[in-house]
Amino acid sequence: MFVNIEKSTNKEKNYQILLSNLDYYLVKGDNQITNLSNLSAYLNYFLDDVNWIGFYLYDGEKLTLGPFQGSPACTMIQLGDGVCGVAAKNRETLVVNDVDSFPSHIACDSSSKSELAVPIVKDNKLIGVLDVDSPLLSHFNNVDKEYLEKVIVKMIDIL
Ligand code: SME
Repeated sequence: MFVNIEKSTNKEKNYQILLSNLDYYLVKGDNQITNLSNLSAYLNYFLDDVNWIGFYLYDGEKLTLGPFQGSPACTMIQLGDGVCGVAAKNRETLVVNDVDSFPSHIACDSSSKSELAVPIVKDNKLIGVLDVDSPLLSHFNNVDKEYLEKVIVKMIDIL
């Protein structure tokens, strides 16, 4: 049973609480979809001002929609397309302050104004992308980047 964990109004402190309890919700040996489903719910609980959070998984050719929290979203993204596809292709976290100014942004939810995408790479192989959308402009900063990359490092460990 999930018992509500006390959050902090300080972003960095909140991420530290998130990380310190993460091991309970990532179980080595469990099905990948199981872990990613719980992880998307867990992140959604902690992150404020987020309207969509979840995973796109690489099938060897393109990204396909995986476990998420939020409104129904586009199901396929080509590498190099949109915020997720560019982050996946370059294998680098992408922080976009204003999605409308990102040339190939793929609009899935009209309330999204800023976005962050973290590529998931294990043993030099692309696994997918963690994608987070906010209804606020410039919502994500280096603190989000640093801690969400740490979450993905922990997650990769149990895959
Ligand atoms: N905006 C993303 C598409 C996925 S949704 O935000 C859920 C992109 O440009 O890749």
